[in-house]
Amino acid sequence: ATSPLELPTLTVSDPVRRKKILERLSPLILTPGQQQKIHDIFLDEMRLGLAAKPEKESSLLMANTFIPELPDGTENGEYLALDLGGTHFRVIYAHMKNGKFDEEIVDYYHVPSEKRLGPGEELFDFLAECIANFIQKRQLGGRNFQLGFTFSFPMIQKSLDVGILVSWTKSFNCPGVVGEDAVRMLNDAIKRQGGLDITVTAILNDTTGTLVMGAYLDKRCAMGMILGTGCNGCYIEKVERIEKWLGKHKESEVIIDIEWGSFGDNGVLDFIRTQWDDAVDNQSLLVHSYTFEKYFAGKYLGDLFREVLLTLAKEGLFCSGGIDILNTHGAITATNVSNIESDSFKGVTDETKAVFDNLNLIYDDDDLHIALYVAGILSYRGVLLVSLLSGILLERMKHDHCTIAIDGSLFQHHPRFRPLMEKFISDTAPGRSFDLRLAHDGSGKGAALTASIAERLKKRSSR
Ligand code: GLC
Repeated sequence: ATSPLELPTLTVSDPVRRKKILERLSPLILTPGQQQKIHDIFLDEMRLGLAAKPEKESSLLMANTFIPELPDGTENGEYLALDLGGTHFRVIYAHMKNGKFDEEIVDYYHVPSEKRLGPGEELFDFLAECIANFIQKRQLGGRNFQLGFTFSFPMIQKSLDVGILVSWTKSFNCPGVVGEDAVRMLNDAIKRQGGLDITVTAILNDTTGTLVMGAYLDKRCAMGMILGTGCNGCYIEKVERIEKWLGKHKESEVIIDIEWGSFGDNGVLDFIRTQWDDAVDNQSLLVHSYTFEKYFAGKYLGDLFREVLLTLAKEGLFCSGGIDILNTHGAITATNVSNIESDSFKGVTDETKAVFDNLNLIYDDDDLHIALYVAGILSYRGVLLVSLLSGILLERMKHDHCTIAIDGSLFQHHPRFRPLMEKFISDTAPGRSFDLRLAHDGSGKGAALTASIAERLKKRSSR
């Protein structure tokens, strides 16, 4: 068994084959020099993203979330929350009593691909139908609800309840929504649906919801992160450091949604790009976007792994038969990669065999070890990338202690992410005290909490 903290090693009986594979895959291993370069570039992209008049465009949105404060223990009442971003849409009812979740009801609705790719209005009509179904099924009618809407896509917000979609990401691409306010579109659909008494008071991103939920769990939380289908991070910034909003905000702090999934869309990360990253990007729904996210996030990790194996197979370095399946997009998932990684740490090959058998590959022991190695170095690269960014934020905020709230399947199920992140973040921000905390269901519960924060802010401003 190996440690998740070590750079994976390759065990193959034939030394010539071993050497060839190591050479072929070396572009996937980030050198210290490359890591330093990514570090410096990210700092610069953040600066440009916060500047009033940047000399060139940043690939980071650095979006204002209009959330200037966190839960304070006074949350009371019933709220609805929506969570849209993956293939399951969730409707949530939350009853808060003195700052705590007293009751919670969650229903999942599958979002079929024709809704994810069809006209925007139809997507929002579908959401409104789900809400109506939820209210009826859960017998929650006859009252007004304030609602928090988690919409996990890049947005430019004009206020807490206005969010203009910048671009679609992941597996959504509905015409007619980019450039529109998602709250307005939801409100219109709610009206068309009829019979619903709902006020949408807040729109937010899933990372933001995760930070808010993290702060509910631990007051020292100042960073939120999603390591799932997509990948993104947010943090609390001092308004005085946000040049582009100077004079526009009376609050002293605000959560910034970095949208780091698009880091590198302007080419600044091309020096680490490999032929396999190109292949994955070219097969994705939204080509030439979300460079950073495509380097390792859950939606892409399985295909990246498959593409690397395909290359090795074509060059006679992997598997003696059945390799055609490796041409099939989606044939291997991030869950498969997580399972293969757990084999590595246990020193077994059971899960890897199961994946290979399922694909009908013709393989021997060496092939299994090659797969373990490939899964290892791809994951290692991903953790390094995400940890570099996290460490930079810790150094920027300089809190005595920072709890980083994280949600998403990669963080929860992939055995290398958590332990290796702890190590790499410490390396990037030496001496900084931090901990990684799973904020389970941060995007849903965080939306309910944010609806309550919105209510508090509104009451205060009308006083
Ligand atoms: C994508 C979205 C981003 C979201 C992330 C995680 O990167 O653009 O808004 O936070 O996925 O779901």
